[in-house]
Amino acid sequence: ATQHVGYFVGSLAKGSINRILSRSLIRLAPEHMEFTEIPIGNLPLYSYDYDADYPPEGRALKDAIAKVDAVLFVTPEYNRSIPGALKNAIDWASRPWGENSFARKPSAVIGASPGPIGTAVGQQSLKQVLAFCNSPLMNAVEAYIQFRPEVFGADGEVNDPATEAFLRDYMLAFHEFIARVLTVLPKDEL
Ligand code: FNR
Repeated sequence: ATQHVGYFVGSLAKGSINRILSRSLIRLAPEHMEFTEIPIGNLPLYSYDYDADYPPEGRALKDAIAKVDAVLFVTPEYNRSIPGALKNAIDWASRPWGENSFARKPSAVIGASPGPIGTAVGQQSLKQVLAFCNSPLMNAVEAYIQFRPEVFGADGEVNDPATEAFLRDYMLAFHEFIARVLTVLPKDEL
């Protein structure tokens, strides 16, 4: 069956290198995976004052996550951690208490930076948050991408065979991971 994946781009920047990486990942994903972006840029800053009556943006976020089989985070590292806009979206989706959208929803994390650490430290803090949110998280393959403009075209074309093969493997591993999780946690039992 086709897997429906919702993806988050953790950057609001127009020229985001992580958005470019998301295009590459979609291009290189195996058959039977479909992708929908889950936007985060329109959300107000979360407060539990909203819990009694979520605004449409918050509802739309939770509905979008509910609709997909799995979520993929493609995100920069800001100050060795999660960008604020992405953390805000996660806080929205995790609430109201008892209605955490990430519970049992398979996830994977990947990110690109101009620097050689390739978002490794930011991914670690994001993984900690997703673990707390009870999302089954793909631990391997890990992917820390040092973004080089000569490798990644604006539309997601990848001009380096080794990078292309690595990203293809990453998406295949995610596809297989989702299939395994859905076998253990069939959707109708969620
Ligand atoms: C950064 N950048 C950055 N890079 C990194 O490797 N580790 C870091 O901790 C940070 N911290 C950081 C903080 C803030 C506030 C900004 C704006 C930037 C640089 C960052 O990787 C670079 O701007 C990327 O282009 C961000 O990815 P997007 O937004 O282009 O997808």
